[in-house]
Amino acid sequence: MASLSPLPSPDFDLSPEALVAARPWLKRHAMDGLLLEDVPLNAIADALGTPTYVYSAGTIRTRLAALTKALAGLNCQIHFAVKANDHQAVLRLMQQGGAGADVVSGGELLRARRAGILPRHIVFSGVGKTVDEIRLALSQGIYQLNVESAEELETISAIAASMGQTADIVLRINPDVDAGTHAKITTGKADNKFGIPYDDAAALYAHAATLPGIRPQGLALHIGSQILNMAPYRAAFARAAELIRHLRASGQTVTRMDCGGGIGILYADAPEASPEAFAGAIRQAFGGMDLSLATEPGRWLVGPAGVLLSSVILTKAEGRFTVLDAAMNDLVRPAMYDAFHAIVPVGPNNGGELSPTDLVGPVCETGDTFARARPMPRLAPGARVAILEAGAYGAVMGSTYNSRTLPAIAMVDGGHWATIRARQSIEAIWAGETVPDFLG
Ligand SMILES: Cc1ncc(COP(=O)(O)O)c(C=O)c1O
Repeated sequence: MASLSPLPSPDFDLSPEALVAARPWLKRHAMDGLLLEDVPLNAIADALGTPTYVYSAGTIRTRLAALTKALAGLNCQIHFAVKANDHQAVLRLMQQGGAGADVVSGGELLRARRAGILPRHIVFSGVGKTVDEIRLALSQGIYQLNVESAEELETISAIAASMGQTADIVLRINPDVDAGTHAKITTGKADNKFGIPYDDAAALYAHAATLPGIRPQGLALHIGSQILNMAPYRAAFARAAELIRHLRASGQTVTRMDCGGGIGILYADAPEASPEAFAGAIRQAFGGMDLSLATEPGRWLVGPAGVLLSSVILTKAEGRFTVLDAAMNDLVRPAMYDAFHAIVPVGPNNGGELSPTDLVGPVCETGDTFARARPMPRLAPGARVAILEAGAYGAVMGSTYNSRTLPAIAMVDGGHWATIRARQSIEAIWAGETVPDFLG
């Protein structure tokens, strides 16, 4: 799909001014250059250097409020998918805005708790929860475990029974629906590793009801990420609703339905999915079924709220390549998913002519390419750019490949900003390493 293509010359306006104009959280000031909310991004880069992520608290609040409003009246709780951005300041904004957390590891669970999210607002998803993670979830008393296989169900039953507890679980079904998104972020087809095959779910649910330590509460699904079209949601929700009716008709108790996440955002020209349309699809399938509903959005809540600031190291081949100080280890989405990210200069608009350039990182991989043939003004060494929509699946996927330190992170709120993660030191990268004595 167009929004995931990194290749040159998409047929829409990629000029920096058009890209900024399409994003109300950004503006360009004649003297100060690019602003996120009311803070000049140059001021943050001057103070912290680059590469640096910057998150907009106001944008996250506004988006959470918009989704909450769209879901009003549906008895639908939002559980933010922590994997999209696990910074505690972001989790605190979620908690303050009334959202809970969808976690996929013990580490995410503990982060959510540290940020103030209560156990009863936490659900635990994931295809391979370890014994220790299941124990942790049960000892914390979280809202539910989303079970992804018959094998996992037995393990949870044994652990819960040994702890003298009853685990509230939902079965994550695999509805075998194509989300129409990039293959690496599709999760609801039969050949994906996620969930319980649709045709096996009714029997497994009935079995779950007989197991010690297990209280089956309902179903969950999550069909993929960056979904812009509601048709796959409608198809998946319809299959889940049909299964719930069948389960109830056969005497099972079903009180909960977790509708997953995946709502798509604007990366390129395709408009983002509207929260009202998403809520409409939920209402159409589950309205009037007397269910406690939930959703697990990640990207939609935080993706647009983040930018990655980077500086030009040099240009080469007469401007054909612009080498940045940010690389695939800072933001891996283009290398990993062929993802499209809009990129704009941070400086004031100098009115210069635009010419195409490949924006690349300095890592020794051809895949370390953020964009091809992007129209940019002349970018001299030291000039700064902002890589947009970097708030989801950005810093969380960072690595120290090439012994590159993890970038700093700042958060803006109105006219204020603060550092929320210091740039990693090189010593911190090797702090846990030892050279064994036998090497002398
Ligand atoms: C189970 C589950 N829920 C929610 C999400 C969040 O998806 P998104 O960030 O696209 O909303 C994911 C992401 O892959 C997921 O695997």
